[in-house]
Amino acid sequence: MRSLRLSPSILTADFGRLEREIASVAPFVDWFHLDVMDGHYVPNITFGPSTVEAVRRSCDLPLHVHLMIENPAEYFEMFVRAGASRISFHPEVVDDVPKALDALRKAGAEVSLAVHPDVPVTAVREYLPDLDGLLVMTVRPGFGGQKFLHEAVPKIAEARLALEETQGNAEIEVDGGVNLETVGVAVEAGAEILVAGSAIFDGVDAPAAARRLRERLETLA
Ligand code: DX5
Ligand code: ZN
Repeated sequence: MRSLRLSPSILTADFGRLEREIASVAPFVDWFHLDVMDGHYVPNITFGPSTVEAVRRSCDLPLHVHLMIENPAEYFEMFVRAGASRISFHPEVVDDVPKALDALRKAGAEVSLAVHPDVPVTAVREYLPDLDGLLVMTVRPGFGGQKFLHEAVPKIAEARLALEETQGNAEIEVDGGVNLETVGVAVEAGAEILVAGSAIFDGVDAPAAARRLRERLETLA
């Protein structure tokens, strides 16, 4: 059983004080999750490589860049240079997934595919042996603060089984609506890295929220 890890999404953090937000939760988390949106793949626009660089300067934890953009392969090198340790992209927006995975690895990042709630696990099964991570989404991509989609939970277990069947070694990450109420369900189904945005950056007390979530993970491990 791998250790359970916590990866805050900065999407709902206060960007007017991002460095302090990052530093306040860093003692309780393992990664940071950076949601890049282009207004095409999803109906929202967030930030680019310069923000990744700013977060890189603010902490020394690994940065997972989640690309919710079209033509992601055009930006792999830029985001790796900016400080991304792992990059997820959505396979349905690239013509040649193996080629994109190869380009991403050559760019120097760990490779991960993000699975939209409408995309079946079978659509990524053939790539599983080549992945370092698999990001199973439990919200529709585009916004933080949405409700956890319980109907996506079977996909986490399905991904776990598919990884065993294909001898894949990817870490299963669950992304969207993860909080103290839903984290147990996600872990029970097979999640190893929990992405949490609004449950941590809630504008009230981010470090306390991160610490509580970390403590809950320790009881679930
Ligand atoms: C949604 C993003 C998620 C989201 C998580 O498109 O990929 O990472 O920001 O935020 P919460 O935890 O608030 O759902
Ligand atoms: Zn994300």
